Amino acid sequence: MIVRTPPMGWNSWNTFGPNINEELIKTTADAMVENGLPEAGYNYLVIDDCWAELKRDEKHRLVPSKEKFPNGMKAVADYVHSKGLKFGMYSCSGTMTCAGYPSSFQYEFIDAKTFAEWGVDFLKYDYCFKPASVNGDLLYKRMGMALANCGRDILFSACSWGADGTHEWIKTTGAHMWRSTGDINDSWQSIKDLYNVQVKLQPYNGKGCFNDMDMLVVGMNGKGNVGVKGCTTEEYRTHFSIWAFFNSPLMIGCDVRNMTPEAKAILTNKNIIAINQDPAQRQPFKICEYWGNTAWCKQLEGGDLAVLVLNLEEHDITPFFIFSDLGLDRSCAVKLEMTDLWTGETLGVFRDQFRAKKTLKPHECLMLRCRLTDE
Ligand code: GLA
Repeated sequence: MIVRTPPMGWNSWNTFGPNINEELIKTTADAMVENGLPEAGYNYLVIDDCWAELKRDEKHRLVPSKEKFPNGMKAVADYVHSKGLKFGMYSCSGTMTCAGYPSSFQYEFIDAKTFAEWGVDFLKYDYCFKPASVNGDLLYKRMGMALANCGRDILFSACSWGADGTHEWIKTTGAHMWRSTGDINDSWQSIKDLYNVQVKLQPYNGKGCFNDMDMLVVGMNGKGNVGVKGCTTEEYRTHFSIWAFFNSPLMIGCDVRNMTPEAKAILTNKNIIAINQDPAQRQPFKICEYWGNTAWCKQLEGGDLAVLVLNLEEHDITPFFIFSDLGLDRSCAVKLEMTDLWTGETLGVFRDQFRAKKTLKPHECLMLRCRLTDE
């Protein structure tokens, strides 16, 4: 199985933590469809930690919680599939999951087979309680082999938070995406922290195995399992822009059954999602960073450029960059026609440099699509 663009979907953890059950998953699947999320690209529905009974069965198989999932997981998977979605689950490479439930250490091949039998299409695989005597890379390799031989295509989502030099070995494991950062929470500080970690790890991102900056907090508004302070709509827009621009998987973390119109508009913005799902999946490069004006560029399939200008500071900035910092100096005689991807507005054709008419307030961003032209 080859994954060519960052996976997209919804995950239960950010909002619901341990409070998951069959009804929640079914109504979430319904809400994903009603809100047009699959059309926007979000096709995985993933149950995170806390879904299992504390004991395996007599054949050492994992058992879904009888209280939370009384009809078993196959029934849940069937329902999710009937909605045209793919079904994801969670386990862990250590002796317990992070929340203390049974984990797959030394049960990898049995568990991969069980997941395949249930109709699982995606496995998030955590790193808590790893025995100190075993190297983490071996545990991810082992589960990678178990999944590749389980008889079903299962997307392997590694979640070792970038620990133990994950970037150096993750592509040897069969993982299709890997958590390059620690856990997110619903605050501007967390978004900024994860961005700063990601910048250094970006060279390791790419087709086949994507750097996962963690689930989105867009629309949580301070509620739920990792809802700390909450963010403003502008901060959520910048958060989504960064994740999209940096080719991270886009896994929604809010309650999609009760999304605000603002959250829905951010999460389903086609222009921004297209920058994330660009077939070329090129690495972004920093154009400049001055006076709090941080600008990034990414080459797109077909020849356009995407530019992201971030205001990570606490004062207003005027988005500005010079084309020679993109490699386009005057010898090229190339101009750039700019479109603001959030508003859809065409900003005109620019020569040598770009200076925005509007300033960005603290934590706002501007995302542009630039068409090269000699007219
Ligand atoms: C870790 C992961 C989170 C979540 C929890 C569940 O902290 O990084 O994304 O899966 O475990 O316990």
